[in-house]
Amino acid sequence: MNNENRKIKISPIKNGTVIDHIRKGQALKVVKILGVMEQDVDSVVSIAMNVESSTGKKDIVKIEGRELKQEELDKISLISPEVTVNIIHDFQVKDKRRVKPPKAVKGIVKCRNVNCITNQREPVEPEFKVISGKPVSIRCRYCEREMEGEDISENLM
Ligand SMILES: Nc1ncnc2c1ncn2[C@@H]1O[C@H](COP(=O)(O)OP(=O)(O)OP(=O)(O)O)[C@@H](O)[C@H]1O
Ligand SMILES: [Mg+2]
Ligand SMILES: [Zn+2]
Repeated sequence: MNNENRKIKISPIKNGTVIDHIRKGQALKVVKILGVMEQDVDSVVSIAMNVESSTGKKDIVKIEGRELKQEELDKISLISPEVTVNIIHDFQVKDKRRVKPPKAVKGIVKCRNVNCITNQREPVEPEFKVISGKPVSIRCRYCEREMEGEDISENLM
């Protein structure tokens, strides 16, 4: 067998979404955010990790038959702002979108300050101002605690 025949091919998607340029190590987090294990049980899903790209290593998630909602895109933008979301129609990339962290996030991330009012038995939804984009940094509206990186990905609601 020559090397050409040894290539492993990932099946192309007819219709669905390719989430590309995911920050290395974050693919499973994206899968979790999107609830892939619950929502896409009968769909073709491909997950690639530590793939070479022009700007270093990246992860990729491909999901057949799935379109992403704005709230899902916002969550992804918080853990991996470099992501591009490719909409696949009839095997072709029909649309390519960047994600952008919103100016403020409400009800998406929990404050990591246990004494914050949003962590007491009060009906107060956690709310943050996004204070920088790359890397993403957010500040609690109530206790001013700042969070970034793993702090954010570990506290996604
Ligand atoms: N039908 C398909 N099924 C599965 N993956 C696909 C399909 N078409 C494109 N892709 C994947 O979608 C991503 C974007 O495809 P595109 O052709 O736009 O590549 P690109 O030009 O390298 O894009 P970029 O500049 O965003 O990196 C790539 O990871 C590509 O492998
Ligand atoms: Mg590319
Ligand atoms: Zn707080």
